[in-house]
Amino acid sequence: MHIPTLISRKRDGAELSPDDIRALIDGYTSGSVPDYQMSAFAMAVFFSGMTPVETAALTRAMMESGDRFHHPAGPPVVDKHSTGGIGDKVSLILAPLVACAGCRIPMVSGRGLGITGGTLDKLESIPGFQVRIGMDEAAAQLARLGVVMMGQTDRFCPADRKLYALRDVTGTVPSIPLITTSIMSKKLAESPDRLVLDVKYGTGAFMKTEDEARQLAAAMQAVGAEMNVETHAMLNPMNEPTGRAVGNALEVSEALECLDGGGPADLRELTLQLAATITRQSSAQLAAWLDDGSARRRFDELVAAQGGNPADLPRLAELHRAPVIRELPAVASGLLTKADAGVIGQTALQLGAGRALASDAVDPAVGIDHLVKTGESVQAGQALCRIHARSEADAEMAASMLGCAFDIRAD
Ligand code: URA
Repeated sequence: MHIPTLISRKRDGAELSPDDIRALIDGYTSGSVPDYQMSAFAMAVFFSGMTPVETAALTRAMMESGDRFHHPAGPPVVDKHSTGGIGDKVSLILAPLVACAGCRIPMVSGRGLGITGGTLDKLESIPGFQVRIGMDEAAAQLARLGVVMMGQTDRFCPADRKLYALRDVTGTVPSIPLITTSIMSKKLAESPDRLVLDVKYGTGAFMKTEDEARQLAAAMQAVGAEMNVETHAMLNPMNEPTGRAVGNALEVSEALECLDGGGPADLRELTLQLAATITRQSSAQLAAWLDDGSARRRFDELVAAQGGNPADLPRLAELHRAPVIRELPAVASGLLTKADAGVIGQTALQLGAGRALASDAVDPAVGIDHLVKTGESVQAGQALCRIHARSEADAEMAASMLGCAFDIRAD
């Protein structure tokens, strides 16, 4: 395979064969195709796109670049993927809930990058919680508990691991075929029977418009169908954060409220809808497992199995109390019409809840909570949210950034 010819053909809009794509990905995984050729290929895809056949072939080659789960016969294996948003802690609630419904959920998640949070960072705010676990250990836990929440190991979709890092520094992240293949290779390597995709659009999402989100959803569903996996997609707006908390430990605390049968209505509803789709249980039954403590017990078992102590969960807010906690007062009375997810996410990032580089550490304690939701009434002087910061200067910076996040219409 002459790689420069293959890159030129993609640049000029030709369709590559599955064998061409397989050779490229195998070479990239083994190191015989260097980063500079793969960057050129990614840029060629960015401009020329990929046909559905190419997209499926690239997904398959990346999925098969490393280890995959092989599940013994048993209950359905399911998962959910969200394309990323602000305050999106659904996975923390959905994974144990789905296990209560008798399904197996081997959830391989990512870290936050840019303004979007990551499930692994949130889980790591639980003292001792291990997300770096091997495939054998994960399989054993899945058989025992029905749920495992882990990071991508070095041997799980290594081609995606390398390519995603390369795309991040070569301006080739926002490409529908590259996003599709990256997400679907990892999800399909979990070998699920059913998958639900929560495709976000809006100020706090990758996809800014509903139309772009629809295209991404269709591309991902086509790949799922090609691999014989029942793949559902839901389009959900991400113009305001999900729930009322943004930030790692703050989000785990809010997820625990939901696992205890409470929590913000939008978070509970979204979780129930996604869980109902993959479990084929009614929302009412799933809600009962939140309300009667079943899902919370399963989460506690998950925490214990992965190195944490469930007794720490009720005191997470104390364990991660930020040095400065300040309220942001409303400047007028009226109806809240905007709580901009993009601005709130950017503020949480600047406070230290997210990372600028993949190698940066996140601060579990900082973020924003007690957010007022759009459609709710506020009085002048009432808190629109609380800012959790490392220093007075950081709190000041956050208050100033959040100045343009909210709109209040006089009523
Ligand atoms: N998440 C991924 O895993 N890959 C992408 O390309 C985008 C979001």
